[in-house]
Amino acid sequence: MRIAIVGAGSIGLAVAWRAAQAGAEVVVHDPDPGSGASRVAAGMIAPVTEAHYGEEALGPFMAESADAWPGFARELEAASGLQVGFRDVPTLVVGVEDGDRAEIERQAELYRFTARNVEALSPRAARKVEPLLSHRVRGGVLAPEDRAVDPRAVHTALLAAVERAGVMLRCKGVDDLGALDADQVVIAAGCGSAEFIGAGGGALRGAESALWTLPVRTVRGVVLRLRAVGAQPVPRTTVRGYVKGHSVYIVTRENGEVVVGATSDERGFDRLTGTAGAVHDLLRRSIELVPEIAEYHLEEVSVGFRPGTPDNLPLIGRLDERTIAATGHYRNGIALIPATAAAVAALLGGEEGAAPAAFDPLRFGRTRAGASPDPDLNAAGGATTQEEDS
Ligand code: GLY
Repeated sequence: MRIAIVGAGSIGLAVAWRAAQAGAEVVVHDPDPGSGASRVAAGMIAPVTEAHYGEEALGPFMAESADAWPGFARELEAASGLQVGFRDVPTLVVGVEDGDRAEIERQAELYRFTARNVEALSPRAARKVEPLLSHRVRGGVLAPEDRAVDPRAVHTALLAAVERAGVMLRCKGVDDLGALDADQVVIAAGCGSAEFIGAGGGALRGAESALWTLPVRTVRGVVLRLRAVGAQPVPRTTVRGYVKGHSVYIVTRENGEVVVGATSDERGFDRLTGTAGAVHDLLRRSIELVPEIAEYHLEEVSVGFRPGTPDNLPLIGRLDERTIAATGHYRNGIALIPATAAAVAALLGGEEGAAPAAFDPLRFGRTRAGASPDPDLNAAGGATTQEEDS
């Protein structure tokens, strides 16, 4: 079978790797591999602390993917000869003010619905787990099974693994999916997925019938990368926190890199504006939780684009007999790599219903090309800016 995959982010490459392992002839198309969310993401694999109200249908798939991650990481390291920075360290969620503590208690209710391990901690117990926490921290919640991985290392390893598996990478854009020389096409282009006007159905076969598109919206996020210098201590856990009602997360790698994220707004593909304020906010919040961060070297400010959908659940499933969607992973692209790759490989292998029905890419009907997939945005006549827990 000949398979064309549109998008060489980590989702597209993982699908390509699995399809090649199953014996398919695979070509991945992307003018700039890894230029979407894959190399900006912090890398949290967080079925508990990335649980959000209204997104409960994601829970079992997140859990399945999180449980698959240790084996996936080992297999990818063996196939690529490269390390992927998988870390089996717990996540702490903490707050500094009464309001923040109330927010954590509200979140903890939701975390308990995930049926995974969650422990309430006193401030003293939280500092025992994470000695770098500020003395102002007012206790919190421990999620011992939320882990992390290094998304850049994962993307680099996937590029090596697909090459070794015989996958062809074409660094050119794709205009017309119908013209691709393939039996099956997988759209895994993250925020770029909305550009494939006419994706799915008969519309795929010609631009003249291009009437609709995939309902993916761009949710921008600013992320900082810092580095501990010399013998400076780094957090030994992933720390998520609420500071005066605003969220922040701090993810540490074995190599001393400390990632602080992330803002969330809907200004489209804008890599420039608002970054000064974003850096200020993220540093202030993270330093309130872990004062040591003020001593680190700020290495990088990056802007990434999360592919959101109207219900924030991914689009994974068949669009027609030739086309599969594997996109719209919003805040959870890295966490969902193993389960998405497995589901799409099963769909390519002819297994109907391999992806959860809640992720059916046609569940919103067909979004008119040029219209925002989010009715609120249409009503407002443009993009809105929001800050939220991410
Ligand atoms: N998963 C974290 C974020 O999207 O910022």
